[in-house]
Amino acid sequence: MSEFVSKSLCVLGRQPTLSLAELESLYGAQHVKPCLPHAALLNIAASEINFKRLGGTLKVAQLFSVLPSSDWESAYQYLAQNIPKHLQNVPEGKFTLGVSAYGLDVSLKEFNAGLLSLKKIIRASGRSVRIVPNKALELNAAQVLHNSLTKRGAWELLLVRDGKQIYLAQTYFVQDIEAYAARDQARPKRDARVGMLPPKLAQIIINLAVGQIERTAGSIQRTDNKSQTPDVQRYTLRVLDPFCGTGVILQEALLMGYHVIGTDIDPRMVEYSKTNIKWLVEKYPQIEGHVVIEQADATAYQWPRFSVLASEVYLGRPLASWPTPEKLREIINDVNTIIKKFLENLAPQLKAGQQVCLAVPAWRSNVIGLTYHIKHLPLLDTLTDMGYNRVDLVHVKNDDLVYFREDQIVARELLILEFRG
Ligand SMILES: C[S@@+](CC[C@H](N)C(=O)[O-])C[C@H]1O[C@@H](n2cnc3c(N)ncnc32)[C@H](O)[C@@H]1O
Repeated sequence: MSEFVSKSLCVLGRQPTLSLAELESLYGAQHVKPCLPHAALLNIAASEINFKRLGGTLKVAQLFSVLPSSDWESAYQYLAQNIPKHLQNVPEGKFTLGVSAYGLDVSLKEFNAGLLSLKKIIRASGRSVRIVPNKALELNAAQVLHNSLTKRGAWELLLVRDGKQIYLAQTYFVQDIEAYAARDQARPKRDARVGMLPPKLAQIIINLAVGQIERTAGSIQRTDNKSQTPDVQRYTLRVLDPFCGTGVILQEALLMGYHVIGTDIDPRMVEYSKTNIKWLVEKYPQIEGHVVIEQADATAYQWPRFSVLASEVYLGRPLASWPTPEKLREIINDVNTIIKKFLENLAPQLKAGQQVCLAVPAWRSNVIGLTYHIKHLPLLDTLTDMGYNRVDLVHVKNDDLVYFREDQIVARELLILEFRG
């Protein structure tokens, strides 16, 4: 096997194992090296990483050095020696610097004091500089965006500790939080009862579903990252969501450059999806993907041809408090029956080896010690009998593919399934 040469670093999101799974799915396990909990290294240049479609990556940075020590003092010495030197190659004029530290054992006070003396050293070298003040050791996406740290005349430098070493990298891309918020909250139709699938999670689900095909085609890196518009120049695959609800998966798949088919049993949801997609296409007129949205029962329907299936299936009703054991059994049984029937209906419509990604419900019980106990869908034990294998990732355990917010009882478990044929 060829040696792994780290070229870029991705700062992972709130649930780093989901972010890591997404990177592994899109780029292949051999191109990704975990540096949990903060980051993953890739042997792909930052400029080639298609960051707009990565729901789980907060920042993409180009790696430029690895320090053989793990303390802030060594990192500081490195910055003090090297920043003034490198600034000589940056055109004269206003310069802004931001520094983020991940996993370093340093207080914020000490860190900010270090940045202040760094500023003096840079000024003494004849260059004026503004340093973005840190409210935490890491600058958040909003700070990076508002200070234009990925643009000309500015840098964000990342210090990421991995055991006994520190990776140094420069941020190239940062998640466009405003664009995500706009396509989440500004959609004309939303419905709390079917759940609010965050667009970033929808991207992760799609990326876990298309990874195998995209890796084989080698098409994922051919995107123009510079453009601010969505990635809409490919149009080769057709993504099906058989539980489309208000259409978040359809929306994100269209923005990634796929054709979409959405079906839902509830005519109101079909209308919601249609309205939302019409709104999206008006907002992003460069979208050219075909859209089919119809009313259909996923336990019995024969879909038109599709290449990829990505879906947040029926999750049962949202729960504000932990139900009685009998009630919970009833809820789980209900959902399990629908999803099982759906998988049985789907099986003959899949080709052998075809993969799908489903977000299914899992129930988080009260805290036991400091960890939550997760109750899984019973059908997970019978997948093999139905002709499906659960795909194992190299860097992430299947048990860690569970998305939740702290206050949620119903979590979403991400299943990557392969149909055996
Ligand atoms: C969790 S929601 C999906 C939400 C969706 N991801 C969105 O963007 O709004 C599940 C959806 O499954 C639909 N559903 C429930 N049973 C179904 C069935 N048998 N066939 C098709 N859709 C079904 C519900 O109407 C609901 O819209």
